[in-house]
Amino acid sequence: MRENDGVTSDGPLVLGIETSCDETGVGIVRGHTLLADAIASSVDEHARFGGVVPEVASRAHLEAMVPTIERACTTAGIALHDVDAIAVTSGPGLAGALLVGVAAAKSLALSLSKPLYGVNHLAAHVAVDQLEHGPLPEPCLALLVSGGHSSLLRVTDVTTSIEPMGATIDDAAGEAFDKVARLLGLPFPGGPHIDRTARSGSSVAIDFPRGLTGRRDLERHRFDFSFSGLKTAVARWVEARERSGEPVPVADVAASFQEAVCDVLVRKALDAASSEGIEDLLIGGGVAANSRLRAMAEERASALGIRVRVPRPGLCTDNGAMVAALGSSIVSRGRPPSSYDLPADSSLPVTSVLAG
Ligand code: KG4
Ligand code: ZN
Repeated sequence: MRENDGVTSDGPLVLGIETSCDETGVGIVRGHTLLADAIASSVDEHARFGGVVPEVASRAHLEAMVPTIERACTTAGIALHDVDAIAVTSGPGLAGALLVGVAAAKSLALSLSKPLYGVNHLAAHVAVDQLEHGPLPEPCLALLVSGGHSSLLRVTDVTTSIEPMGATIDDAAGEAFDKVARLLGLPFPGGPHIDRTARSGSSVAIDFPRGLTGRRDLERHRFDFSFSGLKTAVARWVEARERSGEPVPVADVAASFQEAVCDVLVRKALDAASSEGIEDLLIGGGVAANSRLRAMAEERASALGIRVRVPRPGLCTDNGAMVAALGSSIVSRGRPPSSYDLPADSSLPVTSVLAG
């Protein structure tokens, strides 16, 4: 450790700010030890629209930012001037929402004379696992599944080298969960409701399609995903039921839909890991909280001798701790900070772990 920078032997004390979507997250870590993970969510304000409304999210971040920072510091038992660095999500995400976090992080960094690190949201979803399971095995294969992204990533060094292997060509996995939940009359965000409802249904009741798994698809899209065909198939199936006057078996539809999504995600992730000779699969992002996905990945990976790491559900969905965790790894590895004119970049590619 770099004692001369004031960083103690337990690792740097980093405050991380996350505002890429509808969660205002402020996390504080010392090395890989989580000290605070304060979150304020505007999810209830978006529920009646069936999706996140960017303007509403930005406004909510602005109101929640200072109280959430204060709450995180109180929980961690630190004062702001104790921190070694400020990390913030600079992209990808909703532009207006990102701007609130980046502006807050700049204000803190400048007023406290601390280094500023603008980090990639997707890389942070990978780095967060270190808070629970220790240093990341490198290389590892990461399956990132959230409301905005579904990607397969080869991670050689989470602070510098992340290579995309595949991604969704239409809807993200979480988006599919949210849209199908809406069709079934379940509240937003739909993932947790489908997860819960599916427990009393049959996963083999309806044979829904597995996108991009046919022989021809695999030639061009071996590691890519597609969920919009599945979503349409569920919609058609439900409409046909309604037309026939029979009740819709909501639990069976939820379980069969969830099985189709998880089957494709796990199949492609394990195929990617095997093809690269990688023995560690990390699953992150909001959909990684799904109980069936976790169980299926464990079961199929162990048959192939592949180890699976999934953070606990609270660390899978968006939070500030993940940004602090990535910031801490970046500081520990001596990477140079971002400049104070760091922009927010709504489409920051995953290959840019550290921005600006
Ligand atoms: O990572 P996240 O909090 O935000 C984004 O970066 O998008 O992911 C949110 C997504 C939502 O689509 C939500 O429905 C989904 O994660 N999700 C789940 C579960 N918990 C959250 N999907 C399936 N099963 C769950 N248990
Ligand atoms: Zn996310």
